[in-house]
Amino acid sequence: MKLSVSILSFKDRVDEVDCINDLVKCKIDFLHLDIMDGLFVPNKTWNITEVKKILPNNFNNYDVHLMVNDLDNYIDDFVSINPKYMTFHIEATDNPKKYIDLIKSNNIKVGISLKPSTDLELLKPYLSLVDLVLVMSVEPGFGGQKFMESMSDRINELYKLRAENNYNYVIEVDGGVNNNTINSCQNCDIVVVGSYITNNNYQISIDNLKLKKDT
Ligand code: DX5
Ligand code: ZN
Repeated sequence: MKLSVSILSFKDRVDEVDCINDLVKCKIDFLHLDIMDGLFVPNKTWNITEVKKILPNNFNNYDVHLMVNDLDNYIDDFVSINPKYMTFHIEATDNPKKYIDLIKSNNIKVGISLKPSTDLELLKPYLSLVDLVLVMSVEPGFGGQKFMESMSDRINELYKLRAENNYNYVIEVDGGVNNNTINSCQNCDIVVVGSYITNNNYQISIDNLKLKKDT
């Protein structure tokens, strides 16, 4: 199980860059960049210019989570930091295949995500095409929310679908994950953790997660 740390809670802090540089000294696999436009979700975070100012020099495993309406422009912008994964929300388009192809055409692994209230059926036509499925275990827009236990059923259903159909996607969960709720995410390949780590001692919190060793 890999760890992708959301830096959302560092936004607008005067020591934002120092926090990020301290964080990447710890054992993390990805930096999770929550890109919000204030339209798809009520919160607004970094644009590409702002992101480029805060990224660390010695770490480039970025896991970009687009919570935006204007996928064409944001995808074009964010391919420039060459993320390991770029994930968009199925609720943001009536043509997911177009954006799966667009992200893949840039040799970037593509993720698709759904809000807790969106029916998983909507994703099924695309599961054979994507590299990652991001299960939101909170309503997207803010960090520090409570993990929605019902989303562990969704994780387990995606785990089963993958095995039954030989799909290749990794399963990622995002929102309210901590040293307790991680127990409901054991079938995930990547967990996104924000405030549990970024609001506490980073390495102690990471150690407390007792990430299931990759088999
Ligand atoms: C919410 C974001 C999450 C969030 C995770 O819209 O997608 O990545 O920042 O933060 P915590 O772990 O505090 O819920
Ligand atoms: Zn996120």
